[in-house]
Amino acid sequence: MSDQLLSGKRVLLGVTGGIAAYKAADLCSKLAQAGAQVDVIMTEAATRFVGPLTFSALSGRPARVDMWTAPGGDPIPHVHMAAAADLAIVAPLSANTLAKLALGLADNLLTATLLATEAPLVLAPAMESHMWSNPVTQAHAKTLRKRGAVQVGPGVGRLASSALGAGRMAEPVEILAAARGVLARSGPLAGRRVVVTAGGTQEPLDPVRYITNASSGKMGVALAEAARDLGAEVTLVHAPLAVPGPYGVERVSVRTAIEMRDAVLALAPATDILIGAAAVADFRPADPAAQKIKKTPGQAALTIELVRNPDILAEVAALRAEIGRPAVVVGFAAETQDLLANATAKLAAKRLDMIVANDVTDPGSGFGSDTNQITLLYADGRVEALPLASKGEVAERVLDAAVASMGDGGLAPG
Ligand code: C5P
Repeated sequence: MSDQLLSGKRVLLGVTGGIAAYKAADLCSKLAQAGAQVDVIMTEAATRFVGPLTFSALSGRPARVDMWTAPGGDPIPHVHMAAAADLAIVAPLSANTLAKLALGLADNLLTATLLATEAPLVLAPAMESHMWSNPVTQAHAKTLRKRGAVQVGPGVGRLASSALGAGRMAEPVEILAAARGVLARSGPLAGRRVVVTAGGTQEPLDPVRYITNASSGKMGVALAEAARDLGAEVTLVHAPLAVPGPYGVERVSVRTAIEMRDAVLALAPATDILIGAAAVADFRPADPAAQKIKKTPGQAALTIELVRNPDILAEVAALRAEIGRPAVVVGFAAETQDLLANATAKLAAKRLDMIVANDVTDPGSGFGSDTNQITLLYADGRVEALPLASKGEVAERVLDAAVASMGDGGLAPG
């Protein structure tokens, strides 16, 4: 996971009374692991579900509850914590605290601190579904959103009452993604649209069989997350993924190369940066059978005719020559031999600004692995070999390079 955004940030984590408070412990741990300094403030009701000690241990800082005791001798902790915060998250947010925030009440340390802070606010409501759907709660939530608070969830699922309904707190990873989105607002890609392709396309032979490849989609997902963390509006156009998709990213799900091409070309005019990380099948069955292909007794072989698929990036290049968009196009070259020669040829043939070359026969690189060793080749001839790193770190480097070439190209906002 990328630490660039959260490392060193002061995050105020408010925890209110609800069974989902136990999940806030996981959120606190994830924030601390990402390098944030987490100041936890609990309401009295929250401590009925999880003890402050849990949060103190996870954050490495004293979790606070009481307005009137002054740990560390600070007589006005709400003022100091409020001023220091880069971001405030309330998870879970009860109906009671939500109403207090909307009205500007300040009757405990958490509400007083939140009233005093100018930090952006991420809210993860969690409550019984009728409390959530109650018009008064809905009106308060709307008021807070209008004031700029980012609301995550609630989702639909099993609630404390064991009923199914809306009111379940968003998952910690989802809240974390929202927090990253808020912190990224002033990033270098704020207001820009980045499209990433990911996964291995599936080319059907018949209704139940298809030709595909070993791409997991990990690199594409990491690139989408890295672009989101730089403030971009991101669309991930993906064939089936073997990994969970990213949060805070728009997703367009496709299956074949032709579907992927159509989705990418439709988005291209509004795209600033396109990164083609998908493993696109070069060929597809010429005539997929309408029914499941049957073997016949004594049949020793089956011949399937394949036809060429469109080259998505080549078609993007043709469009770009006409309309000037996307401003930056980055391709991938996953090779098993002659890495740099093949990558250089593809860079030119597909008229890319940059190509990310990796030798998929290298241990630790390529399909399915969590790491990658890449070389960046630029249209102007520059070559930059990067050390072996996690796919998240590699994605950050690729995005940094794309942002730099965007600057070189003098990209005008679209
Ligand atoms: O030609 P090759 O498949 O090796 O090129 C890889 C790059 O081209 C990747 O960025 C991939 O997403 C893209 N590609 C494409 N359309 C294809 C095949 C590959 O856009 N039909």
